[in-house]
Amino acid sequence: SETYPDLKRDSRFAQLTEEHVAYFRQLLGSESAVIDGVTRSDAADDIEPFNTDWMRKYRGHCRLVLKPGSTEEVSQILKYCNDNMLAVVPQGGNTGLVGGSVPVFDEIVINMGRMNKILEFDEVSGTLVAEAGCILEVADQFLASKGYIFPLDLGAKGSCQIGGNVSTNAGGLRLLRYGSLHGNVLGIEAVLADGTVVDDLCKLRKNNTGYDLKQLFIGAEGTIGIITKVSILCPQRSPAQNVAFFGLESFEQVQRAFREAKGQLSEILSAFELMDESSQALVRQVTGNKRPLEGEYPFYCLIETSGSNADHDSEKLQAFLEDVMEKGIVADGTLAQDETQIRSLWAWREGIPEALSHLGGTYKYDVSIPLRELYQLVEDTRARVEAAGLIGDTDEFPVRAVVGYGHMGDANLHLNVSTRRFDERVEKVLEPFVYEWIAERQGSISAEHGLGLMKKKFIGYSRNPTMVGLMKNIKTTFDPNGILNPYKYL
Ligand code: FAD
Ligand code: MLT
Ligand code: ZN
Repeated sequence: SETYPDLKRDSRFAQLTEEHVAYFRQLLGSESAVIDGVTRSDAADDIEPFNTDWMRKYRGHCRLVLKPGSTEEVSQILKYCNDNMLAVVPQGGNTGLVGGSVPVFDEIVINMGRMNKILEFDEVSGTLVAEAGCILEVADQFLASKGYIFPLDLGAKGSCQIGGNVSTNAGGLRLLRYGSLHGNVLGIEAVLADGTVVDDLCKLRKNNTGYDLKQLFIGAEGTIGIITKVSILCPQRSPAQNVAFFGLESFEQVQRAFREAKGQLSEILSAFELMDESSQALVRQVTGNKRPLEGEYPFYCLIETSGSNADHDSEKLQAFLEDVMEKGIVADGTLAQDETQIRSLWAWREGIPEALSHLGGTYKYDVSIPLRELYQLVEDTRARVEAAGLIGDTDEFPVRAVVGYGHMGDANLHLNVSTRRFDERVEKVLEPFVYEWIAERQGSISAEHGLGLMKKKFIGYSRNPTMVGLMKNIKTTFDPNGILNPYKYL
């Protein structure tokens, strides 16, 4: 409660006892499947990583971590928790950015890391079936060996899990090309709060038999069930990839470049990412790497193409670069010549969250805004923080930078305010200002990261009371005792 003065532990939930722990030990058998801080006084260090989120912004007080090895074990755990009023937090790779994956008080963490097997792959249809705890990059590497690609890619791929991705409905770097998980996930197996196993592990592309219930689990953030298995349609991996990196003088020009890219690169365009100068200066500060372009520009874009013919694609991208430079849309640009250069150009985009995390506390706003006004939010926020006199790099003036980057192709901006440390004065200047700004433009306060604990108070800026009411009804139907991820957005 010291950490979250606005929240109170729900007294309906039981306190953990030695008897509870003994039950879980006997159920899960293996020593490493139970991290027990209830009966062991020296377990605090082992539990700490499960209590703290990736941004080191949210910290819970959990004393028990369970790592089930099968759907049956998840079912038994939840049934027992439901019968005994023990609250739980489902946890994947714990890379979520809204405080949803860690406990608030003493909820039990159910970490899915042991359920990490690839179960099935159909080389004709491209359908992959895997356990929820399978790491995204592991799944993608497996698919690469078969000539396929996972239809989602993001900077945390080395630690996030498919179940966590689906529960967040993560968007990532290639949504522009492959679409959202709502379209790609074909089936789900999940366990409800009372231990009921929902077997909807369908592998069909088309299935219009009644409500498509699996869609409710996609993006539910662990509030209505624990996903245990996923079946997903994976596209063929393109043999040729090319990447270009541009500098541009204005956001107006960024929009023109995007239109031209869609028109000229059409079916081979696979990513169109935006970075502003402040974000790139931070990456440079942290990594010390040489910038891709000679000069500095207010905006940069990373464009990726994926196609079947390397020469044809790179000719197309080269011609595109020449054209947009000739038209004065792009001020300078470079094309990657090989795999190493592709990776190093991507690092200037994918490395932004990591660079920010090295510098102190970051206030993150992941929003959808009509494209025309996308960057205006960064400018208005910067002006507001400046007017509040918070810019500097000292304890008194803690805001180091207001930066903008994101998935331009999806009209998804990441507004980040980088501070020396988390500071209530900064938060008050930013919230609810950012959410009001977005609501005025009918944007979304959560484009791809979810609501978690961070946006609990703000759901009303993007969803009307009727919709929130329906969500609450669904939550009650699936989890009548409210044991699944309590205190979060519902
Ligand atoms: P966790 O963080 O462990 O959990 C996320 C939520 O899902 C929590 O509410 C948790 O309770 C729930 N959950 C987890 N597993 C299950 C399960 N099996 N069943 C039910 N509920 C479950 N997101 C994007 O959308 N696009 C990006 O480009 C992107 N890039 C990122 C880059 C970095 C460097 C980082 C750190 C994060 C990024 N994210 C991005 C945020 C995040 O959404 C993803 O990292 C990922 O989708 C979370 O997966 P995870 O396994 O870590 O889930
Ligand atoms: C990204 O696009 O890099 C991720 O969503 C993470 C972030 O917003 O920082
Ligand atoms: Zn993102």
